[in-house]
Amino acid sequence: MKTAIRTHEGRVALVTGASQGIGQAIAFALAERGARVIATDLKPPHETARKIGPAGYALQLDVTREEDWNSVSNKSGEVGEVDIVVNNAGYFPNCSIDELDLSTWRKTMATNLDSHFLSAKHFLPAMRKKKWGRFIGISSNMVGLAIPGMSHYIASKMGIIGFMRGLANDVASDGITANAVLPGLTSTSATALQSDEQKRATWEQQAIKRIGAPEDVTGAILFLTSDEAAFITGQAIVVDGGQYRIG
Ligand SMILES: NC(=O)c1ccc[n+]([C@@H]2O[C@H](COP(=O)([O-])OP(=O)(O)OC[C@H]3O[C@@H](n4cnc5c(N)ncnc54)[C@H](O)[C@@H]3O)[C@@H](O)[C@H]2O)c1
Repeated sequence: MKTAIRTHEGRVALVTGASQGIGQAIAFALAERGARVIATDLKPPHETARKIGPAGYALQLDVTREEDWNSVSNKSGEVGEVDIVVNNAGYFPNCSIDELDLSTWRKTMATNLDSHFLSAKHFLPAMRKKKWGRFIGISSNMVGLAIPGMSHYIASKMGIIGFMRGLANDVASDGITANAVLPGLTSTSATALQSDEQKRATWEQQAIKRIGAPEDVTGAILFLTSDEAAFITGQAIVVDGGQYRIG
């Protein structure tokens, strides 16, 4: 990996859904800044860890399963106490409210929301002892857009923002921050099925007229997980080339 400023030297970061797409880019970016990175996914993301090198570790973690969080929490001790958690794994089937069934709704909530709660339960105690920690939840700018067929997804991604706001209040006195990052349309296998016309229709609404790359999302995460962002918590940072504007 190319050398960079070592802002994250000595930190241990856990990233979920890190075998591809945005999660893999986040894992690479944190490693490049000096963190040891525990890359996790439904199957151990060996390729991500291999590309990182000696500072990369691959573990299996289905974020919906508490027993998997228990196991990763135990195994991560061999790497070091986790300082940074980036919950990136996501589930996003398009399904209109008329077709949506309870099992799809529950799987969306389990993947996109339970994961944040379970990670906090498992990694907060060690962060509290160290008086330092960072939680990042990957939400989506879709929470502010009129996209049909995504009511379950938007509910879960709005829930991440709410959870980070609440978590921020509970952990602030121990030097721990919790923030949400909201990517816009990003070129990954999740968006590969969209036609070029569909993608263009989205990025033409942005101030910056191109589709995002996974690497575009990493800057916000590197900043929010650094010492420099110690006074920023409970926030929702939009990284979408200027499509969704609030305030
Ligand atoms: N790509 C976009 O345009 C976009 C836009 C906004 C937000 N996001 C969010 O960014 C995140 C990553 O998206 P992506 O485009 O890189 O997706 P992706 O499909 O390329 O990667 C998602 C990863 O999550 C993993 N995953 C799914 N369910 C899991 C589970 N239960 N446990 C553990 N891992 C699981 C998958 O195996 C996969 O490796 C998601 O939370 C998504 O909602 C993506």
